[in-house]
Amino acid sequence: MFERRLGARTLYLCHPRLVEQVLVHRAGQFRKGRGYEAVRGVLGEGVFASNGETWSRQRRLLDPEFSTARLESQLPALHEELDGLTARWWGTAMCNVPLPLERAVGEFSLRLLGATMLQSSVGDSFELIARCMRASLEQSTRRLLSGGLLQPWMPTPGNIRARRAERQMSGAIDQLIAEARTRPEAQPEPGGGRAQRPDSQGRCPFGFDRAGSPEPAADEGRRGLLEAMLTEPDPRTGEAMSDSQLQALCRSLMFAGHGTIALTITWALMCALEDPAVEAKIVAEVRRVLAGRLPTLEDISRLVYTRQVILETLRLFPPIPAVSREARVSGRVLGVDVREGEMVTIPVYVLHRHRQFWRDPERFDPERWGPERPAPDPFAYMPFLRGERSCPADSLAILTSVACLATIIDRFELRRLAAGPLRARARICLHPDPSPRVQVYPRSR
Ligand code: HEM
Repeated sequence: MFERRLGARTLYLCHPRLVEQVLVHRAGQFRKGRGYEAVRGVLGEGVFASNGETWSRQRRLLDPEFSTARLESQLPALHEELDGLTARWWGTAMCNVPLPLERAVGEFSLRLLGATMLQSSVGDSFELIARCMRASLEQSTRRLLSGGLLQPWMPTPGNIRARRAERQMSGAIDQLIAEARTRPEAQPEPGGGRAQRPDSQGRCPFGFDRAGSPEPAADEGRRGLLEAMLTEPDPRTGEAMSDSQLQALCRSLMFAGHGTIALTITWALMCALEDPAVEAKIVAEVRRVLAGRLPTLEDISRLVYTRQVILETLRLFPPIPAVSREARVSGRVLGVDVREGEMVTIPVYVLHRHRQFWRDPERFDPERWGPERPAPDPFAYMPFLRGERSCPADSLAILTSVACLATIIDRFELRRLAAGPLRARARICLHPDPSPRVQVYPRSR
């Protein structure tokens, strides 16, 4: 552990046992605090940035939406978007023009998120919401960094742009909610949905599942996430979600779900292109398992090496490279005094490259995830974090990333346009810098 003092003290937890204390054993002592102010200004009291009962209520409603049955029901949307990506990239290959990789994969992940949140095509409004959210977040961060000099009421060009973006985003999300309310899938069931279901283990074959999420009934499979939220009363209180709670929830899902998947796939492609042996092994596996088809859930469990590539990508380039927590009360954590109001940072990126827990940590080596190898310390590997605030969509993210990487590598050969080592730049997420451009060729069979 080390500390930094810039005014107040911040503690950096660089050991898995300290991290385990903060995320699990003493989770109640910490909350998402000042480090989330910029994000909270834009996302509101949605599941990502809120605390206490506001958070736990949304989280209770959200968890079952990422169960195995739900993943199964989202497969048609995934296939549709993979076909769409293939058609767009085929066009790029035919025109022989370079492809901005992160943006092109981002378009895919945004469309997929739209299709899974709402069982319909919402491409355009999602594009608008994502653009407005970026503009809003940038200004919110600028205000925070100004240390109080830049106030929201000031008529600066940045504030004016951010206010316009905020209005547009709010209007577009309200419209999605209003449309969702009119769909037959969003009409409440007699007797009140999820509270009636029996609990089951809801385990998922992709390795990041948690036990105990109630499984949705089979006949609920076709509903999008937003439609499900409209009909499901809170299992504990029986209350339905208000429109403003739904606004905040949508914002959280867009924020947490869009860029992270796009970055995972972009980094995985970049890592595979760097090492021809890795690329060849993926091609061989994908050809053997899929034989030209799009992957089913069963296929994805059989794409063992491709999944190892994704896990190793998430180790070297975790899309969320660090998270912070604020101490609610003073206390000792494994012999360290943490005072009320102090910040602790969990540097996921550093833990993933810690020499004590990883052999040859800087090397991209998918073999370290082979079935015969011992599992790493769970708190030295946490691309989705651990504990009650870990990512609810971990299995969905792995499934989507494996399916997308397999499909792209099966159908296309990519060549990087700029040589040189892969470099990363952390804004809130970890981006390749410079943003990669590739030449796309159809892969011969
Ligand atoms: C590879 C892709 C993804 C990665 C690496 C990832 C990683 C993470 C991490 C590290 C956190 C904890 C953040 C913090 O404590 O500040 C988190 C939270 C969260 N993620 Fe993900 N995520 C991914 C995809 C998704 C997707 C696709 C969705 C939704 C569609 C999603 C929804 C959420 C939500 C709602 C939270 C907040 C959970 C809470 O605070 O209870 N994530 N994610």
